[in-house]
Amino acid sequence: MNILITGGAGFIASAIVRQLVREGRGLVVNVDKLTYAADLTRLADCAGSHHYQFVQADVCDRKIMQQVMNEYNIDAVIHAAAETHVDRSIESPEKFLRSNVAGTYHMLEVVRDYFTKLTEVKKKQFRFLQISTDEVYGDLDGLERADESSPYRPSSPYAASKAAADHFTRSWARTYGIPVLVTHSSNNYGPGQNEEKLIPKVISNALAQKSIPIFGTGSQVRDWIYVDDNARAVINVLDHGKIGESYNISTGDEVENIHLVSQLCEVLDNFVRSSEKSEVRKYHQLIEYVDDRAGHDVRYAMNAGKISQLGWKPKLSLEQGLRMTVKSFLKNFKTQ
Ligand SMILES: NC(=O)c1ccc[n+]([C@@H]2O[C@H](COP(=O)([O-])OP(=O)(O)OC[C@H]3O[C@@H](n4cnc5c(N)ncnc54)[C@H](O)[C@@H]3O)[C@@H](O)[C@H]2O)c1
Repeated sequence: MNILITGGAGFIASAIVRQLVREGRGLVVNVDKLTYAADLTRLADCAGSHHYQFVQADVCDRKIMQQVMNEYNIDAVIHAAAETHVDRSIESPEKFLRSNVAGTYHMLEVVRDYFTKLTEVKKKQFRFLQISTDEVYGDLDGLERADESSPYRPSSPYAASKAAADHFTRSWARTYGIPVLVTHSSNNYGPGQNEEKLIPKVISNALAQKSIPIFGTGSQVRDWIYVDDNARAVINVLDHGKIGESYNISTGDEVENIHLVSQLCEVLDNFVRSSEKSEVRKYHQLIEYVDDRAGHDVRYAMNAGKISQLGWKPKLSLEQGLRMTVKSFLKNFKTQ
């Protein structure tokens, strides 16, 4: 099976690429524009593999995307390319409209053209998997958890752009018969994540003994998933998901941001002996509350019962995942 993955040099998609290449699946073609968020060193282990091919391109460039689909006889597309940082979407939403909404539209059009020319046998195998987020469901009250049929209530320009892309995807299934799947993941974390995201930012600020900013009161609730657990889930949906269906991917471990950051500081405290720290004894002393993000959602929570029926469950607890992340960060920090 030849798989095209867009945005494969990004944090999440690179974990999916690594897993697919490790499994020795046909050919994995990674198309990435290489924005500031990309990092090809995440794929250093795949670079020499005959199961892996990299193409630098923008998903909005239909001509190139068409060529790639034809040249590599693609059997499935995992569409992960996107602008992903919520704060950036608040400052300059247009890029999100372009890459996330128009980018998905162009990919769907390329796929539509390609799909109609496939043989009936190939059509049966073909999939377009749209990588989406829990943020499309918006703020959830109390104990409510979004399931796959919950209404979309996106709050940030980022979430709105992902919601629009999901709607385009489903409409291409209904109108043109494209076999689509949609996954909604909760907050991913793990080694190699861009430092603008919460967990790597906390680690790097703590190690540099800079203040650790917490938006508002830090009471926002999120559900964190280790990036390799998420990658296994996405691949599971690609292999076993029912055409036209959506799947939530989460651990169900809800935690307030302030508790997450405190737990992370504790993990760091245990790794870095006090004697190695110049001024601060405990990292949590660096926590500083800053003005809340505009329109910040208070709580995201999803029910992941549907994907568990496909046989997926997370392997790592938050504690284990945070330890792995800190360990890897420290290794790179020391070798810099
Ligand atoms: N980070 C999370 O916690 C999270 C949670 C749920 C869903 N998602 C979704 O998962 C996907 C990956 O997220 P991430 O955080 O790993 O992203 P990332 O920001 O780490 O990487 C995104 C990648 O997409 C590429 N890209 C951006 N625009 C492109 C374009 N127009 N053409 C080609 N490539 C382009 C970038 O170069 C980059 O390599 C996104 O679709 C995101 O919405 C992320």
